[in-house]
Amino acid sequence: MDKIVIEGGLPLHGEVPIAGAKNAALPILIATLVAPGEHRFTNVPDLVDVSSMLSLLGRIGCPSLGHKGDVRLDTSRVSFCEAPYDLVRKMRASVLALGPLLARCGEAHVSLPGGCAIGVRPIDQHLVGLEALGAEVELSGGYVHARAPRGLRGGRIVLDVPTVTGTENILMAAVTAKGESVIENAAREPEITDLVKFLRSLGAHIEGDGTSTLRIQGRTSLSPAAQPHRILPDRIEAGTYMVAGAITGGDVTVTRVDPRDLVPVIEKLRAAGCDVEVGTDRVRVRRTGGIRPVDVTTRPHPGFPTDMQAQLMALTTLAEGRSVITETIFENRFMHVPELTRLGADIAVEGNRAVVTGVEGLTGATVMATDLRASASLVLCGLAAQGRTEVLRLYHLDRGYEALVEKLQAIGARVERVPDDLRERMAAPAAHRMTESA
Ligand code: EPZ
Repeated sequence: MDKIVIEGGLPLHGEVPIAGAKNAALPILIATLVAPGEHRFTNVPDLVDVSSMLSLLGRIGCPSLGHKGDVRLDTSRVSFCEAPYDLVRKMRASVLALGPLLARCGEAHVSLPGGCAIGVRPIDQHLVGLEALGAEVELSGGYVHARAPRGLRGGRIVLDVPTVTGTENILMAAVTAKGESVIENAAREPEITDLVKFLRSLGAHIEGDGTSTLRIQGRTSLSPAAQPHRILPDRIEAGTYMVAGAITGGDVTVTRVDPRDLVPVIEKLRAAGCDVEVGTDRVRVRRTGGIRPVDVTTRPHPGFPTDMQAQLMALTTLAEGRSVITETIFENRFMHVPELTRLGADIAVEGNRAVVTGVEGLTGATVMATDLRASASLVLCGLAAQGRTEVLRLYHLDRGYEALVEKLQAIGARVERVPDDLRERMAAPAAHRMTESA
């Protein structure tokens, strides 16, 4: 297992090219099941989760060529209507196979994803929505067994929560259902808008993307688009590097982005005292003065994204004052707090609120990644901390950040990826004592 070693305290300068969005690529790749044939994509991010999704599609009978950048995927044949536990446990987004498999095969057998570090993350809304489209759903043996022997029919769904993958699952089932479907209280994330754009390129009839009401007229058949679909830029990767520029007091420009998807993050960075310049496909973040404290509450889009909460918290650890961060989406998304305090941060958690009292400086330490975005916040604080920080359990970061070390090195960070040799780490204190006594 690898670790990241950072010598912090250096302002970062330069440009970071942003990859395609993980949370758009995952639903779009599995959505190809609703249109048999060969599909082509560009700007697919090089991520473990994307490889996992392509493995799942391979298991279903759909081979792919390439796993990053330009990708081809052939869904002419489906030989297996199941997303097995060994794949779902590695990537909960495999639950997105439910809607497309039901639409394509009339049945779907998908392992229940189970909870994860940030929360229980039930899928009840996914199932209620599919039942509203005529599916018969049964839970047994840790699996969801969904069947639509007479095919899916249009229906009206009012979601209790604007669930992102829940909206996506229901949408992918509705595009070939007989008749009209309406999804109320739908999620409005840009990744859903990209999925709608892709489905429309297959011939789907969908209205209301970007709003909380999606209206779908089912089509009897859909077919691959004539042109490749370009995955939209990853607003969370972009926001993470924008914070890297802010927290190190540097000057960082993220390129190949859509600034419209970064508005909540831009607003908070400006409130924190950063100069933020917005171009057509780039955003430049500079910080010369101190960091002002900022309060933030995570909300469904277009509110401040929960996937940027840990990264913004990292910035506030060095603010000149007290910031209050409220997490309203997931019930346990402060796993990064104990690790940030190991770097010298002063954070008090009270329920879904974290009160961050800014400190003069952070000091490097060995810290443990717990989930994808928490890991990013540890790296950000390590970049600002004086001395050496080691971030363990890198597989979390590999799921969602393409070429993280290389992109950081390109803007001046002293960071490297090394094998985490437990024996060497355990021996380090002894070596340290010998140095001290000498
Ligand atoms: C998507 O997860 C993203 N993942 C998450 O990104 C993101 O944090 C989340 O949306 C919120 O924006 C992908 O798109 C692959 P939800 P999802 O269903 O769809 C509750 C990352 O770091 N809920 O919108 O699983 C749920 O418990 C990942 O890239 C129900 O109660 O999130 C949560 O509290 C982490 N019942 C809230 O809704 C349901 O049926 C939002 O969850 C579904 C969800």
